[in-house]
Order: sequence, then C-alpha cells, then structure tokens
Amino acid sequence: MHLAIISTIASALVPLVYGQQNSSCPGVPGFRYGFAIDPQFRAVKVAGGLTRPRGIARDRSGRLLIVESGKGITQHAVGTDGCITGSVVLLGLASLNHGIYLSPDESKLYASTGTEVYSWSYDSTTGAVGNDQTTLVKGMRNSGHTTRTLAIPPSHPNLLVVSHGSDGNMDYPTVSPSAARAIVKVFDLNSTPAGGFDYVTQGWNAGYGLRNEVGLAFDANEMLWGVENSGDDFVRTVDGVSTDIHTDNPADELNYLGDVSKPNDQWYGYPTCYTVGGPSEIKDATFALGDQFVLAPNTTFNDTTCIQASVPPRLTLPAHSAPLDAKFDSVFQNLFVTLHGSWNRQPPSGYRVVRVPFTKANDGSFTPVAASNQVGFTDVFYPLDTTQCSAQTCTRPVAMVFDAAGRLYVTSDTSGELFLIEGA
Ligand SMILES: *[C@@H]1O[C@H](CO)[C@@H](O)[C@H](O)[C@H]1NC(C)=O
Ligand SMILES: *[C@@H]1O[C@H](CO)[C@@H](O)[C@H](O)[C@H]1NC(C)=O
Ligand SMILES: *[C@@H]1O[C@H](CO)[C@@H](O)[C@H](O)[C@H]1NC(C)=O
Repeated sequence: MHLAIISTIASALVPLVYGQQNSSCPGVPGFRYGFAIDPQFRAVKVAGGLTRPRGIARDRSGRLLIVESGKGITQHAVGTDGCITGSVVLLGLASLNHGIYLSPDESKLYASTGTEVYSWSYDSTTGAVGNDQTTLVKGMRNSGHTTRTLAIPPSHPNLLVVSHGSDGNMDYPTVSPSAARAIVKVFDLNSTPAGGFDYVTQGWNAGYGLRNEVGLAFDANEMLWGVENSGDDFVRTVDGVSTDIHTDNPADELNYLGDVSKPNDQWYGYPTCYTVGGPSEIKDATFALGDQFVLAPNTTFNDTTCIQASVPPRLTLPAHSAPLDAKFDSVFQNLFVTLHGSWNRQPPSGYRVVRVPFTKANDGSFTPVAASNQVGFTDVFYPLDTTQCSAQTCTRPVAMVFDAAGRLYVTSDTSGELFLIEGA
C-alpha cells in the first residue's frame, strides 16, 4: 500500500507491535539488528555491505543514487519489487560525505563535501553522469559538523539551499550570521561566479542560529522545514549553582524556515537560546516542553529574553536523538524523520524512523498536528530495546527518499544497510 494512503488513516496513535521482522530482497541477508515496526508498515532490507551510506536521491527512471561516505556516489537500478537489480560506482570521490540532490529537471546532479558543493551534468534516462565537475559553492568550514545538506525548491530550480552546522558543540561567533555557520544559506545558480560562490560572504540566509540543521524538506507550498541537532553535555547555572540537565535537554527541533526565495534573517536561538525537552530536569524554574531557556540566565539575558529574541521550534524531538533527514509523504500528511541515535545520553534515544502528522491550516499553510508543547511524532521503525543501543547494536537511519510507489528507502550508515519501509 502507498504510504500516503496509510497516512490518511494514521493520524491517531496506533498500537505498536514488538518482534523482529525478517524480510529482505532475494539474495540479501536479513537486517543486521533486530527492530520493531508500526504494524501498518513493513520493512525490507534492500542492500548490505555499503560504505557508510548517507544521502540518497532517486532519478525519474527509478535509479537510487547513494552517497557512500569516503567512497563516492553509487547508482542502483531497482526492479518493480523495489529490490536492486544492478549497482555501479557512478562517481568515485572519497571526499563526498552526505549531501546529494538532483535538479528538478534532473539534468544536474549536486553533491557536497565538508567544504564544497559540486555539480555534474546528469542524464536521468541513461543514468550517465558528465565528466564536467563544477564547483558551485566553496569556503565552508572543514571542522566540527561537516555535513552540508542540499535542497532545491521545485519551482525555483535556480535556488540551491545549503545547510552548514556549527563548528563544535558551542560555536559562539555564530550569534552573528556573518560567521556563516549554524546557518542555512541560499545561492542563486543563475549567477554562479566563476569558481563558485563563497559560502561565507555570498548568498542569503534561510535562518541562522540553527546549530546543525541536517534534514531539510519542502512542504507543498515549497516552504522549508528543518530538523536540528541541538547541544550536548548541558549544565544550567543559576546564581552560581550548576546542575547537569543534559539527559533530556535541550530538545532536538523541527523548525519552520519558510520561503527560501527571499532572505530569512530571523535568529533561531543558537548558541544562546535552547528548547526545553525535559521540563522536570530543570528544577530552578517551571517550564513546559518546547519552552526556551538559556544556560546561564543573567540580568540582561534570561529565559524570557528568548521569547522576544529567538524563533522557537514548531515541535520538539527527543534530546540527542539526532534527526538527520525529513521527507514529506506525497500528500503532505506526514513528515518522516530519521533519528540517527544518541551518544550523549544514557539511556540512549533515537535509532529510529518516526513520522510527524501534518495538517493544512485554514490559511493554506502546513503545520504539525501537535502543538509545540506536545509530543508530536509516532514511531515507525525502532529498536527492540533502545536502552541497549549503540552504533554497534542498532540500525542508525540517516537519509530517506520515496519512490514512485510510495516506498520509503532509508540508509543506515554504521550498519552499511539500505532498507525500505512500505505499507503492510
Ligand atoms: C532472520 O534472518 C536471519 C538472517 O538472515 C536468519 O539467520 C534467521 O534464521 C531469520 N529468522 C527467521 C525467524 O526467519
Ligand atoms: C530578564 O531579562 C530582561 C532583558 O531581556 C530584563 O529586563 C529582566 O529584568 C530580566 N529578568 C530578571 C529576573 O533578571
Ligand atoms: C548574559 O547572558 C548573555 C547570553 O548568554 C551573554 O551574552 C552575556 O555576556 C551575559 N552577561 C553577563 C554580564 O554575563
């Protein structure tokens, strides 16, 4: 069944079934790690043995293009059952590490390293890539968070959106957008300078104060949404007393970035204002889920200041769950989100694929069904026992792409796997 059809009946929380599902394409070994799945769906292992598979795209002939980090881009022909019928290395380029996108007309393939964005001509009929690598964007930081997610709004094929995370956990200079980190920027490919745009000084902003907005998705109005990896090891200091609040704080985030065809110079809070993920863990004040807080309130800047100064998320995601991709289903009733999984939390969080039910408001805009102070997602694919999860024991979902039949392909980097989620 098409996922979009499922979504129409799935807005209410459904009971979840536990137990290992064990389905894989012919000749492909089963999943490396056990998992549970919402009974409306089933998961099929499509490939194993990939080299840190990260970003994934699909051309209109149905081929899958996967960034295997440290290797390049591999291309996979797919049969009607969704299984792979043949694979080739399309581009051997070890520096590619995450971002991949096809231009809306599929005549160009874009991919990123930590420091640059490249284009190649692409033929979606034959699957051939041109020998014409061109640098579109350069000058990005080669340290800290180095995934450079790419996106293009379908009706503005000239606008290349490039996300750039912070350099490390606390990157204080990013309080100014001129630092050009912890930011999402937009470049007009109709006026690409020779040698490419300088990321720091050129382009315009699609929001800043975004610590590490790895997942980007356009809704049906081509408004941009982002999922954010927030900070680690947080301690809150009030009147000289410091308390560890890091288990459930800060929340990871789902942010509304809006229309990328014009500058969005709003500040989304990093590195000063954060989102409460566990109100009870912050004992010096009364908070609700989704409220904004600062690490060390003082007389000039405190939690209340954040209400005036920064744009809060539209929805919280669990602390340290590490959202890496977001994809709307074809009818924009669910935003699927990969939660790669935590390292900075005991017990662990994430290691799953969730969906956020969305609705169209009276004004035509899209919004999560849940309010910002509610838990607004439901598990789709998740570990049997999250408390035991590590990179060596659980699937780590990274990036997703839907096919024409509504099947959702998902990469898992540390396990080297590709699987699909489809209607049960
Ligand atoms: C599940 O898959 C694994 C690996 O392919 C296999 O060893 C095992 O026998 C399967 N279990 C069931 C119940 O089919
Ligand atoms: C909080 O900060 C604001 C300035 O943003 C200030 O006016 C207010 O007095 C501060 N509140 C406290 C309790 O310090
Ligand atoms: C008050 O907090 C803000 C935000 O964290 C910080 O920029 C500022 O330096 C602090 N002021 C003092 C006097 O510590």
